[in-house]
Order: sequence, then C-alpha cells, then structure tokens
Amino acid sequence: MKNSYSNIFSFNKNILKKSIKYLNNSNIVGLPTETVYGLGGNAYSKKSIEKIYKLKGRPKSNPLIVHYFDLKDASKDIVINERFRKLYAQLCPGPITFVLKKKYGSKINPLGVAKLNTVAVRFPKHKIIRSILKNINFPLAMPSANKSTNVSPVTAKDVCDEFKRKIKLIIDGGKCKIGIESTVIDLSNEPRILRPGIIDKTTIEKILKKKMKNIKNNKIVSPGMMQKHYSPGIPVTINQKKHDGKSAFIYLGDKYYNKSKFFSLSKNFNLNEAASNLYKIFRLIKKKGFKKIQIGKIPNLRSGIAINDRIKRASNS
Ligand code: TXA
Ligand code: MG
Repeated sequence: MKNSYSNIFSFNKNILKKSIKYLNNSNIVGLPTETVYGLGGNAYSKKSIEKIYKLKGRPKSNPLIVHYFDLKDASKDIVINERFRKLYAQLCPGPITFVLKKKYGSKINPLGVAKLNTVAVRFPKHKIIRSILKNINFPLAMPSANKSTNVSPVTAKDVCDEFKRKIKLIIDGGKCKIGIESTVIDLSNEPRILRPGIIDKTTIEKILKKKMKNIKNNKIVSPGMMQKHYSPGIPVTINQKKHDGKSAFIYLGDKYYNKSKFFSLSKNFNLNEAASNLYKIFRLIKKKGFKKIQIGKIPNLRSGIAINDRIKRASNS
C-alpha cells in the first residue's frame, strides 16, 4: 500500500543498484550522511546540478560540496596541498569539508561550484553513502536536503517532508549521528574556518600545528553563509534567561525536564549531543504548533560554537 513516505527505502543490494541507475541518469537521490541528509547528484553533469538548484530553490551563487570516496578519487579534481594531506589523514572520512583550488581540466560542472576556481570537497563516513560512492565513477554534488534557508534534515522522513514526492528515491540510513552540517575549512589560502562544526578549531590547529584567525560569528565569509539560514520557519530569539510563558524554550540541562514547553538539547550538558538534537527539536517544535522559539545561553566553546553559529542565523529569520 502506498503511504506518504512511499519514496523512502531501506538500504539493500537492490536499492544500491537502483540508486546508482538514478544517479547515472542525472536524477537526484536523498541520501544519508553522518552529519545531515543530502540531495545527491552527479557533480560532472550539468543536468543533475541544475535539478539540485531547482529543487532547493538555492541561489546559483551558492556553490555545492562535492563528495568523494577517497583522496585518490578527489585528486582528479583538486590541487592537493600539505595541509589538506595532514587533515585528511587524521579526520577523513568524517564531518569536515575542505575548500581547495580546482584542478585544471576537472570535470566538475562549473555551475556546481558557482563558477569559482575553488571547490569544496568532503569524504563522508556513513556506510551507505560510502558504498554508493565506491560504486559510481563520478563524485556527488550534495547539499543538505532542505529547501534553501530551512533547517537541514536529520532523518529520511524530514527529507520527504521537505520535498514530498519531488524526489523519487530517498534512502533511509537512520537518524544522522552528528546532526549538524560538516565543518567547512578554506585551505586554498591561509587556513580559516568558514562554517564551524563538530570538528572544532582547536582540533584542526593541533593537527596543522598552526593557530588560525577567528571568524566573527556573523560575518559572511563564504558565498553560502547567508545571514538568514537554518530557519525553523517561526521566530527564534537567543540568549534568553526567562520563559515568556508561551514559546517553546530550548536549553541545556535537566532543570525544567518534563515541562511540555521546555526542550533540552542535552540533559547532561554534552555539547555534541546538543548539536545532534538541535534540528530534530526545531522540527518537533514546529510540528507541535508553537509560534515562537526561545533559546537559553549556550556556552561558546567546542561544539557550542557550531550550535551558536546555527541558532544565531536561525534568529535572523
Ligand atoms: O555536512 C554537510 O556538509 C552536508 C552533507 C550533505 O554533506 N552538506 C552541506 O551542503 O551542508 P550545503 O550545500 O548545505 O552547504 C555547503 C556550504 C555552503 O555554505 C557553501 O557556501 C559552502 O559550503 N561552499 C561550497 N563551496 C564553496 C567554495 N568553493 N568556497 C567557499 N564555500 C563553499
Ligand atoms: Mg545547507
């Protein structure tokens, strides 16, 4: 029987074959990664890239991340440097994206990288996306599977809620473990973090044996770092101390636990857990029909920096 989620499939050999066929034919597939779900398409195909931008309603000036199985595959398209090698060796596959110079002769479709001479590359860890990447002979352009400016999806059902039946095939890989998007680091010049994530600045500095400049929480340093982003679709206010009595209140800890308007990101103040629950809780609050969200203060350290980046942008809606 068909239900509203009949375009969601569990992963098996047949679905692997079917998704490869779809991707080969320049179709778009909803795919799980360890960070968030993505809309995957052939990065070498103009048709695929156009479909991705259209589905997302994304401005053409905002480039896509190109996903590879490993460094050997990526070396066809990027200029590899020492810093990248070091970080790749320690952190990949994993939740980090590197902006590097595009190699002359790369087959990546120029539309996918907004006609820039750099390209953002990532090596995702989730076993489903890895088995797909291993079995195709092109990389996947894959933005988060949400309409432009919305919250990223962390389950297959979230992807379906965003696009309904406009995507014919969504693979269910469970809830994304990390739950927020990868760290983006620019290595095409002096290294700097363009989008904070679970892999934080200190971890990167230790590997590179080099201090990096801080980016201001609010500054637009990357074409896609729009001020309005990660929006749950209702007003969000941050750094709140007092509940207004009506709004959904997001916080850290267990002080208000069990009250129907309070949503804890992590009962024991674990910032990684908090990050992994953020989008899930945004969507839940919206579904419950709240009209506004208040968020308490989140410590600005480790993964808290990534959480603050996202909620700050969510509050700019
Ligand atoms: O975790 C993730 O990175 C997810 C999963 C699906 O892999 N993908 C994701 O893609 O978050 P997207 O398109 O939602 O975000 C990509 C970010 C944007 O902020 C974009 O501007 C930036 O990466 N970006 C892409 N190419 C760039 C480039 N050449 N230079 C600077 N920033 C770039
Ligand atoms: Mg996104």
